[in-house]
Amino acid sequence: MSTRAPVDTSSRGAPASRAKGLRRITVLVSGRGSNLAALADASLRRDFAGAITHVVSNRPQAAGLAIARERGIATAIVDHTGFVSREAFDATLARVVDAGEPDLIVLAGFMRVLTDAFVGRYAGRLINIHPSLLPAYPGLHTHRRAIADGVRVHGCTVHFVTPSVDVGPIVAQAAVPVRPDDDEATLAARVLEQEHRLLPAAVRWFCAGRIALDGGRVRVRDATVPTGVLLCPAPEVG
Ligand code: GRF
Repeated sequence: MSTRAPVDTSSRGAPASRAKGLRRITVLVSGRGSNLAALADASLRRDFAGAITHVVSNRPQAAGLAIARERGIATAIVDHTGFVSREAFDATLARVVDAGEPDLIVLAGFMRVLTDAFVGRYAGRLINIHPSLLPAYPGLHTHRRAIADGVRVHGCTVHFVTPSVDVGPIVAQAAVPVRPDDDEATLAARVLEQEHRLLPAAVRWFCAGRIALDGGRVRVRDATVPTGVLLCPAPEVG
């Protein structure tokens, strides 16, 4: 660890009463924080059985930290540049996360590969949102790669985190069409809109105790499966 203090924990936090009887959620972010904002907004609904109690970032300048502070959520920074190894970073990150006593940890644009030890510590209560229809396009630049491949349908996935990157039991997915004139930005925007619906839905189910891991698959109790299909391009009728 360097001489710089890599951990900075704010004392301000959501009122304890807000979290009473609710599942405690810690969100890990690295950047913009739009999924954090969508989840925070959704969590304020009366029928949402969870509260974001802590937001942790590995980047001191992450916009997601400001989003958390505006909402009165406790924040902490564990600056990865202050650590000599991934193991040392993850050990401190785990200590900071544990201090929030979370029932669920959400990776919402957290751009660090986590060690097996970290992932194993939170098995069954660590989820990630990824901007592709996994197992297609794990990793970075998913929209660019989808356009380059000429796929007609793209989307996003919420999944439990297991030791390999962007692999793990799938909780939910949202699919969007890829339009002929799409570029990376327009496709990313279309997917992001769905991310902002999918992640709150998945967390809501988790907090309501409706999600069960069944081997490598996830069961969502009482979930409605739509009957509609997405054909892209759409065939002419008749
Ligand atoms: C999202 O596209 C998410 O799927 C990916 O990183 C991005 C984070 O965006 N893992 P934001 O910080 O939530 O706006």
